[in-house]
Amino acid sequence: MSDQNPSEGRPVDDFTGIETTGHVWDGIRELDNPLPRWWQWIFWGTVVWSIGYWIVYPAWPLISSHTTGMFGYSSRAEVARDIADAQERQKVHLDKLKDASLEQIRTDAGLREFALAGGRSAFNVNCSQCHGSGAQGFIGYPNLNDDEWIWGGTLDAISHTITHGIRNADSDEAHQSDMPAFGRDELLDKAQIGDVADYVLMISGQSGDGAAAQRGKPLYEENCAACHGDAGEGNAELGAPALNNGIWLYGGDRQAIVDTITNSRAGVMPAWGKILDDVTVKKLAIYVHSLGGGK
Ligand code: HEC
Ligand code: HEC
Repeated sequence: MSDQNPSEGRPVDDFTGIETTGHVWDGIRELDNPLPRWWQWIFWGTVVWSIGYWIVYPAWPLISSHTTGMFGYSSRAEVARDIADAQERQKVHLDKLKDASLEQIRTDAGLREFALAGGRSAFNVNCSQCHGSGAQGFIGYPNLNDDEWIWGGTLDAISHTITHGIRNADSDEAHQSDMPAFGRDELLDKAQIGDVADYVLMISGQSGDGAAAQRGKPLYEENCAACHGDAGEGNAELGAPALNNGIWLYGGDRQAIVDTITNSRAGVMPAWGKILDDVTVKKLAIYVHSLGGGK
């Protein structure tokens, strides 16, 4: 078995010659190995270091606040400083954007880059819920990637549309123009609406009832051409979409066309100039113009 250590009276393990703690489990005894010296130094070092840390840095929670430390350090203040720095750096660009015309921004590579990045993020926040995150649009909300513009695709036209919006009461300069509700207001009867719908199918290159389309032609010329154009090419002054290009805001099948003619449509967009600052609207105009079909 084991010898008794004569000096301390604790058993010594025969095999290793090391003192044991006296704890025995199922005949297995625990050696009393002291912790290595290096380990103890590190341990006491961290204890001392942590006390120093408590003194100079915020550390301990109190009931309604916390110890602040001698240095008065705060990670919040650090973030605020970082943000202020970033704003300071952006300010140079923002000031330039404020003064530059849309055309100047478009043609200056650096400014354009900066405006596009800002425009993209402003679009995701303010516009994507209606126009889609890729600006691809939904029924009633136009796709902004194509080169088809209801209200005009020049930088100035896009900027005006964004600033003042469409059929809202927020801006005196909002686009306002309404298509008559030919069915609801009994300007045309059901059969005439069907005929003119077949004519619209025809000019948009779809197949329909040829005889009905022939009957619809004069009705179209009389009731629709003033806004949508003789060939259905549309009119951006009046926000009347082209009907001959296969791009539809409200759907191009016969039923959707009959619904539009019967009840009309009146898409509404807010006046973003009342909601967003001037520079953000400029960035958005540059961004939307860049999406695909800016003219
Ligand atoms: C509440 C929904 C809604 C939001 C949000 C919205 N729009 Fe629109 N937007 C519309 C509708 C509806 C139309 C089409 C109106 C019509 O029928 O002419 C439109 C049309 C447009 C047009 C004209 C497209 C063309 O073909 O001429 C542009 C440009 C446009 N939006 C840009 C934006 C931008 C930029 C934002 C974000 C700042 C935005 N929209 C946010 C609903 C919205
Ligand atoms: C006073 C001008 C005006 C007249 C007249 C008019 N429209 Fe329109 N039409 C519009 C406008 C504006 C819109 C777009 C409404 C919107 O964006 O909400 C439109 C939209 C449409 C659309 C939907 C297009 C799409 O892309 O989904 C169709 C189809 C249409 N009109 C057919 C007709 C036909 C057919 C007639 C004649 C019977 C007619 N319109 C007469 C102004 C007019």
